[in-house]
Amino acid sequence: TSSAKSSYELVTLTTWLLKQEQAGVIDNEMTIVLASISTACKQIAALVLRAPISNLTGVQGAVNVQGEDQKKLDVISNEVFSNCLKSSGRTGVIASEEEDVPVAVEQSYSGNYIVVFDPLDGSSNIDAAVSTGSIFGIYAPNDECLADIEDNGTLDSVEQRCVVSVCQPGSNLLAAGYCMYSSSVIFVLTVGTGVYVFTLDPMYGEFVLTQEKVQIPKAGKIYAFNEGNYALWDDKLKQYMDSLKEPGDSGKPYSARYIGSLVGDFHRTLLYGGIYGYPRDKKSKNGKLRLLYECAPMSFIVEQAGGKGSDGHQRILDITPTEIHQRVPLYIGSVEEVEKVEKFLA
Ligand code: AHG
Ligand code: MN
Ligand code: MN
Ligand code: MN
Repeated sequence: TSSAKSSYELVTLTTWLLKQEQAGVIDNEMTIVLASISTACKQIAALVLRAPISNLTGVQGAVNVQGEDQKKLDVISNEVFSNCLKSSGRTGVIASEEEDVPVAVEQSYSGNYIVVFDPLDGSSNIDAAVSTGSIFGIYAPNDECLADIEDNGTLDSVEQRCVVSVCQPGSNLLAAGYCMYSSSVIFVLTVGTGVYVFTLDPMYGEFVLTQEKVQIPKAGKIYAFNEGNYALWDDKLKQYMDSLKEPGDSGKPYSARYIGSLVGDFHRTLLYGGIYGYPRDKKSKNGKLRLLYECAPMSFIVEQAGGKGSDGHQRILDITPTEIHQRVPLYIGSVEEVEKVEKFLA
């Protein structure tokens, strides 16, 4: 009798999630939330792919709480994410780059997970069809924190409850991931047991497992910074940046790669090694990137891959947000590269 295993076993995200649930790594509610997020990402991928045809490039004509001119797809992606999460029935509160305040989800009837997300990252690239992405993180409800605040009765409004629920350090994340809308549509996910990469097969609309337990190289001579801000940087950072241009003992300087989408620059860094940085500068005292739904989820992923996420002095995952859209400086990527910039900044 042939004992050959069927060599054609393709693992889809759906089957991978069910395996994690059967193994007790995630519970039923988390499985449903993650499936609904992957559905949102597939819908956004389809919208992004045909944006110029369906008149979905360009601006919405509104400004978000960050003071950014919202693209049409910023707003639509936010609605797609919110609708998928609400209809999952397992989400209690959502916080988004495109929502002023966290939103309590009435329809949730179990699980009550907290989901934070950047529905369209790198959205300035949309009109030129350069890679963009979506970023998400999932927390358990922050009940103990809510309970002791309620004890001394300072928590009156639903909105305050939501803010407390959402403002957790990245070290509390149960799951984090992103979807990159690029030459392939790539879904990257960790539930705390390593980093898994799935590629969308448009033939049947499923994410197929293409890499497991990704490990970021310990070092890499690729740096992704917006050097247009060089004049505004601290002197120590300028010295770091200048040092990357000297041909080291290998005789070759670093290469610069920067596409203006954190998801795209991060994914290349995860696979090839190197560093992505968005430092503070004289104009932006805390840098540009948002802790809750950009820096923390990416730092959870990079640590799961053996890399490092820092604000230049401390671990991103140790920072507890005090407000939803709080910005922090970010240095993320290969351990040796992040430690190198931390040394210059000490
Ligand atoms: P978003 O489009 O979600 O607002 O994020 C954009 C971020 C990040 O994706 C990217 O790396 C960075 O902004 C680019 O900023 P600069 O254009 O200032 O370099
Ligand atoms: Mn934005
Ligand atoms: Mn973003
Ligand atoms: Mn965004």
